[in-house]
Amino acid sequence: MPFCKDFLWGGATAANQIEGGWQEGGKGPSEADMLSAGTHTSPRQITPDTEPGLTYPNRTASDFYHHYKEDIALMGEMGFKAYRMSIAWSRIFPTGEETEPNPAGLQFYDDVFDELKAHGIEPIVTLSHYEMPLHLVNKYNGWASREVIALFERYARTVIAHFKGKVRYYLTFNEINCGTLPLGNYMSLGIRNKGTRDFLHQVDDVQVRYQALHHQLVASARTVLAGHKLDPEAKIGNMIAMMPVYPLTCNPKDMLEFQQNWRQFNWYCADVQCRGAYPYYAQSFWEKNGIHLEITDEDRETLRRGTVDFFSLSYYQTNCVTVDPNAAQASGNLLGGAKNPYLESSQWGWQVDPDGLRYTLNEIESRYDLPIIIVENGLGARDALEADGSIHDPYRIDYLQRHIRAMKQAVEEDGVDLFGYTMWGCIDLVSASTGEMAKRYGFIYVDCDDQGHGSFKRYKKDSFDWYRKVIETNGEEL
Ligand code: BG6
Repeated sequence: MPFCKDFLWGGATAANQIEGGWQEGGKGPSEADMLSAGTHTSPRQITPDTEPGLTYPNRTASDFYHHYKEDIALMGEMGFKAYRMSIAWSRIFPTGEETEPNPAGLQFYDDVFDELKAHGIEPIVTLSHYEMPLHLVNKYNGWASREVIALFERYARTVIAHFKGKVRYYLTFNEINCGTLPLGNYMSLGIRNKGTRDFLHQVDDVQVRYQALHHQLVASARTVLAGHKLDPEAKIGNMIAMMPVYPLTCNPKDMLEFQQNWRQFNWYCADVQCRGAYPYYAQSFWEKNGIHLEITDEDRETLRRGTVDFFSLSYYQTNCVTVDPNAAQASGNLLGGAKNPYLESSQWGWQVDPDGLRYTLNEIESRYDLPIIIVENGLGARDALEADGSIHDPYRIDYLQRHIRAMKQAVEEDGVDLFGYTMWGCIDLVSASTGEMAKRYGFIYVDCDDQGHGSFKRYKKDSFDWYRKVIETNGEEL
């Protein structure tokens, strides 16, 4: 079977990486506004306050806040059926603790959704994409505190009730399994442990982090339950960063590493969100790591009942695992691993693996039997803006073509139930890991540099027309 006729082709972004306007319309500061610019080799800094001499790229980002009409028109021109975007929690509740929402924040997203509707584009809305009001970081150490569950629920309820009829698809937490990594402390869980400054080497307390992740899983389940009541038409999914690994060799010990790795990173949260309970292997993991979770009976009941309607994932690259401590290493999205001799790497060292996407989709399908949507996939690369305003990006077309072909095989040949594909960063935006603009993903170039300087003018890259054709032919012409 080819892609279904209403397959959701489109692109994806996140509020903190694209909007800018960090203090406009009554928005409160978010944790992302306190992340300085970094590079591939020098890490971003997590600062408690604004520090002179540092650049904070998420504050201006791609200025979607002022360009949304033009940007959505360009998406419409490409024939987008869907646009995955996120709502900035601190636009709706500036500190996270107000009892009434900020009307200007709601109005901004009303305007965005109306514009999308005018172009026949379905919004897919992430409720929390690597940001929370800064006040909650300062007061509660983010998700480390159970109190944040209720604050998030108020925000989620407000949004779902307000946008009823305008938004049909929601994702609760972006890449929720990022919380299984020390890197997830600040970005994903809003935890800033004493002494933390370097984004790549944060002070980690595994007990605090897993308890915080538990709170997020409960909040996600509560959102599903409340969302279904508030808007029976709404479909609410999870979002997992799928980072598959292969055993580097056929040494059985490498095979055990591989199994362990998949469980700890790819399945730990997904099992809870799709099956309604922690998996059996969680217990031994907690014991080995001295983790004692506070899980109430009510939590268990919420998790049991609040399972998701569909599975969404990001997919960029794969790595290998091995017990050999001398194996060559590769980097990757959130996590590195052993280098795979069969794969090439991107300019940022991520190994490119289209077959891994087919493999991954089949693994998800057989484990959960839920409808699946790919909500992130793409290539971060340096682009050159030519004097005539053109941008030639055959490398991006090649990457996307090979991944779409693999996903097509998963659907047509293997029977995976996939209902959409929104490539990451359809309009150039700030990189989450490095804070650079130079790491570009888009079909649309934004004239802005790593310091936030530029005209913010939009230009179409060669991949723009290529993707338009892909959508027009429902993936037949790649
Ligand atoms: C995903 C995130 O992990 O990868 C996005 O959900 C992020 O927010 C994307 O931008 C690409 O990573 P990076 O670091 O290249 O921006």
